[in-house]
Amino acid sequence: MSFPNLTTNRLLLRGFSTIDTSAYVQLLQDPQAFPFISDNGPPTVSDVERKIARNQKSFQMGRDIYWVVALKESNVFIGYLAAHNFKETCVSLSYAMSGQYRRRGFMKEAISAVTGYLLTLGAEVLEARVHAGNHASAALLASLGFTRVAFRDERDIFRQTLVSRVA
Ligand SMILES: CC(C)(COP(=O)(O)OP(=O)(O)OC[C@H]1O[C@@H](n2cnc3c(N)ncnc32)[C@H](O)[C@@H]1OP(=O)(O)O)[C@@H](O)C(=O)NCCC(=O)NCCS
Repeated sequence: MSFPNLTTNRLLLRGFSTIDTSAYVQLLQDPQAFPFISDNGPPTVSDVERKIARNQKSFQMGRDIYWVVALKESNVFIGYLAAHNFKETCVSLSYAMSGQYRRRGFMKEAISAVTGYLLTLGAEVLEARVHAGNHASAALLASLGFTRVAFRDERDIFRQTLVSRVA
């Protein structure tokens, strides 16, 4: 399967390459982001390089898709969005947006595009696990039609059922 590049009005969702490393490191080290996306504190540059390689392998194995969220006009990295277990009917999402690009509707636009793509693969339910207190992520999911269905391991579980949309 070739990597599924997606485009929206303002964004290009594409695979990672070495040009993204420094912006990805900066995002994963951001004190306002890493507590919500990492269990092990901020990663080092070599941790992130290994992570990019792992993510690429994981796509080849048919498990996870990690998209770079880039500005369409410049191809600049502004965040990432991942679909985990993308071949299953319940697909889980993880994501983060670089600080200076938040609150401009970019992640909502990216998730909407990925939702459309996952529907074509047969996804029926989307899920996201959000740390208690991560109001931005909870509000983003609510704005996309997700609802909070459970609380596990100190995280709120949000779900959106897609099947009714295509029925
Ligand atoms: C959560 C996160 C990805 C949101 O990305 P974003 O690009 O800023 O989100 P959007 O601009 O697309 O927001 C869409 C809607 O979500 C809601 N929203 C997003 N951030 C919000 C915030 N800080 N406070 C309140 N509502 C918020 C709003 O309804 C917003 O629409 P509006 O701006 O028209 O009011 C971003 O804040 C982030 O990267 N946070 C750190 C990492 C993280 O928490 N990742 C998720 C782990 S589960």
